[in-house]
Amino acid sequence: MAENKKMSVAEILAAARKADGGSSGEAEPPAEAAPVEAEAAPEAAAPETEAAEPATKPKPATGASGGRPSVAEMMAMARAEKGGGAKPAAPKPAPKAKPAAAAKPAAKKPAAAKKGPAEPRDTASILAAARKGNKPGPMSKSEAAAKAKDDPKGKAKAPIVVPPMPAKPAYAKPAAPAKAKGKKDEVDEGVRDFLWVGFAGLGAVTALWSLASLKFLFPNVRREPPSKFKVGFPDAYPAGQVQTKFKAQYGVWVANAEYNGQQQIYALKSVCTHLGCTPSWLEAEQKYKCPCHGSGFYKDGINFEGPAPRPLERCAIRIADDGQIEIDKSRTFQEEMGQWEDPACYVSV
Ligand code: FES
Repeated sequence: MAENKKMSVAEILAAARKADGGSSGEAEPPAEAAPVEAEAAPEAAAPETEAAEPATKPKPATGASGGRPSVAEMMAMARAEKGGGAKPAAPKPAPKAKPAAAAKPAAKKPAAAKKGPAEPRDTASILAAARKGNKPGPMSKSEAAAKAKDDPKGKAKAPIVVPPMPAKPAYAKPAAPAKAKGKKDEVDEGVRDFLWVGFAGLGAVTALWSLASLKFLFPNVRREPPSKFKVGFPDAYPAGQVQTKFKAQYGVWVANAEYNGQQQIYALKSVCTHLGCTPSWLEAEQKYKCPCHGSGFYKDGINFEGPAPRPLERCAIRIADDGQIEIDKSRTFQEEMGQWEDPACYVSV
C-alpha cells in the first residue's frame, strides 16, 4: 500500500529518519510532529543539497544496490518527487544519478563530433588549432602580413588605395563671417586716429624746423645804399635853401647856408643826436624838429631846444670829377669837436 501510494516529502523524510533511527536506536517521532518536520525540512534541506551534489558522483550507493536508502538518496528522491512527480521508488534515484553523471561526457562527445567539420569557436580549441598550424587562429599583424606575402596563390588582397579628395570649389567654401565691430575694434580705431594725429603733428613740426634750418643757410644781408653818391651840380642848390629829396633814399639833407660868415654847401645826417630818431625839416619854422622828444636844430644843424646834447653831424662832401657834388656818408664830422672846420665837410660857394 505505502509503495503504491504517492509519498509526500514529509513522509519521505519521516521514513528516512525512521531508517536512520532504527540503526541508531532513536525513537520514532510521533505522527503529529510530521508537519513540523516537514516545515523544517526545506531549511535543513539547504545544507544537505550541497552534500547531495557529491552524491551524484560515483560513490557507493547502498540504496541503489537494493539495500536501505541513505539520507542523501532519500533527499534526492524527495527532490525528484517534488519537481517532476517521479515515482517515489527509493532505489530509482541511484540509477538516475549514474546515467546523469555519465551522460555529461557522452553529451560532449557527440557535440564535438558534430562540430568536427566546423571551425572551433572556444579559445582552447582555437589555440590548439593555431599551434597545430592547420587551422586559422589568432595571429599578429606581422604574421598575417608574412602569410599574405607567402601566399603562393596570390590571393592576398592588395591594399586599397584611396584617391585624395578633390579640392572644394570656391562657391562651395563657406563664406567668411562678417567681423562684428566690437569694443576692441573701436579702441583700435581710436588708437589709430591718435597715432595719425600724432604723426601728422610731428611731420608738420619737422617741416617747419627744416625750413627754419634752411633760412640759416642764407644769411640776412642788410642792403644799404652806397655810402658815396652824387646829388647834382652846385647850381641846383640856391643860397638859403634846404634840399630834402635825398632824405628818404640817402638819409641826408643838402643845404646851402651860411656858417661862421661863410656860405657853404654841406650835407647833414637826418639822425637826431638824442636817441637816433629822424627829425623833419620845417620850412616855415626854418628848423629841424625831432618828433620823438622835441629836440630842435637850426638850419646849419646847431641844436637849440630839446634833449639833444649836440649838433647834427655832417657828411664828407666834394666836387667830383664830373662837376657834380659827391657825398660820402662813411665819413662824418662833429661840430663840438671842431671838425666842421675841415674843408672836407663843405663846398664853398
Ligand atoms: Fe630826437 Fe629824442 S631822439 S629828441
